[in-house]
Amino acid sequence: MENNRSSWGSNLGFLLAAIGSAVGLGNIWGFPYKMGKSGGFTFLLVYLLLAVFVGMIIMVSELAIGRKTKLSPIDAYKKVSAKFAWIGWMATIAPFLIMSFYSVLGGYCLQYIALNMTKLSFGNGAVAMSGSEIFGAMLTTPLGCVVFTALFIFLCMAIVQGGVSSGIEKFNKIGMPALFVMLLIIIVRSLTLPNAVEGLKFMFVPGYAVKAQFIEKAPNLITVLGTAGGQMFFSLSLAMGAILTYGSYLSKEENLVRNSVIIVISDTLIAIMAGIAVIPAAVANGIANGTPVGQIKLSGPNLLFVTLQDVFSNMGSLGPLFGVIFYALVLIAAISSAISLMEAIAAHWIDMDIQKGENDTRKQRVLTVSLLILFEAVIVAWDGLGSNFSPASLLGISDPPTFLDCFLDFMDCWSEGIAMPLGAMLMALMIGWEKSPELVLDEVAHGDPSEGFKKFYRICIKFVVPVVMAFVLAGQMIDFFGGPQIVWYIVSVVALVVFFCLSFFQPHAEK
Ligand code: PHE
Repeated sequence: MENNRSSWGSNLGFLLAAIGSAVGLGNIWGFPYKMGKSGGFTFLLVYLLLAVFVGMIIMVSELAIGRKTKLSPIDAYKKVSAKFAWIGWMATIAPFLIMSFYSVLGGYCLQYIALNMTKLSFGNGAVAMSGSEIFGAMLTTPLGCVVFTALFIFLCMAIVQGGVSSGIEKFNKIGMPALFVMLLIIIVRSLTLPNAVEGLKFMFVPGYAVKAQFIEKAPNLITVLGTAGGQMFFSLSLAMGAILTYGSYLSKEENLVRNSVIIVISDTLIAIMAGIAVIPAAVANGIANGTPVGQIKLSGPNLLFVTLQDVFSNMGSLGPLFGVIFYALVLIAAISSAISLMEAIAAHWIDMDIQKGENDTRKQRVLTVSLLILFEAVIVAWDGLGSNFSPASLLGISDPPTFLDCFLDFMDCWSEGIAMPLGAMLMALMIGWEKSPELVLDEVAHGDPSEGFKKFYRICIKFVVPVVMAFVLAGQMIDFFGGPQIVWYIVSVVALVVFFCLSFFQPHAEK
């Protein structure tokens, strides 16, 4: 069976694909504003620490389990663990739910490229609306959003149908360098705007976000830990099956630790670069228009689709060109992530067919998965971030918790909010306590890790990762469900203890 399974053309191809999966809307959109909102430099520091002690560890583990089993998440976990086989299902359903809104956001990017192209061809007056008017008009035209969402899904489908090396790898080999160059162009443009330095201060000067009244008061360290942890996981594509699936196509020759280090560093670097591209531009434009600094919108969907569109509209005749470049770069980032999600879902059925001796079913399977994604994405596209209807309005709830605000938040809650931290916690417990860290270290040994790394890995996977994930889980539940924080801390700790006991206590023979 293994002979018929896809594989990467080269390690570089794998690296670009994995970096492509990691670099996405999370980097360009989530990272900059979360960094500003959660204390700038403190957030960056916590983020980096978590990336080393938790992100790296899960990245190595996922790649190792993927490569060891040479299977997609559902079958890989089934093969590795007696008790936690269902993590594989979580790691397949979660990317499916993420795709429901990821493709809608990808569709928005397509619309913004088209819009800026129109302005480029017919002058800025062609669409003489403000960013918020444009965004509002788009959200309340559901049919348009559905059409562009479908187009985005279609593009991803075509790439994934092409196969692992001649579809996904090829796209990333061209897309990633292109994205990098476009990002550099936007950074230069952004930093040369007057007052851009205020944006840099927002990101990098400790305490500045509070001083300039972007936020009322600095968040506490636990909140920062939750936000940074959630962001780091999402940004690195962890606990969603994607990295495991990509690892399953990797050759035994490749060094998993070195690859993980490269992916984590690249993703973090691009997130910081994206911040430097986006925040100074938004702040500079706000100041130029007389908006009091603290009131410049730096968070939520507004940042990308309102504030930045205003930046490009106000930039003069070349503005639309930068607009096209910027939204194209976001689109590439979105596609390169979405194809990893799609592959992670479809791989299970493709593997199943290969086991039955049917080798040519990729196109069909990917088509079915794409149609299912389209089906759920239509709901998210149609509700227009809650402008047209929302889970809360359907249920008749007037003051809803965040997860009922709109269908995007609803889907995000179960995937990024619950499945991701829970999946990572369970994975660490499974490796650290049900099985043994050697399960991963033996596989990594093909790249010969040092004794130092082995020690580091054992401590992190057994202790650090499960505890940090419990905090991240609590942080996400507080964000999505609201209510008394203590309740969510208790729920997380109980989950940690119960699952720890489940992994730890077992008849010895089973080990
Ligand atoms: N890492 C992607 C981003 O930052 C999102 C993603 C999550 C992709 C999980 C794949 C798996 O936007």
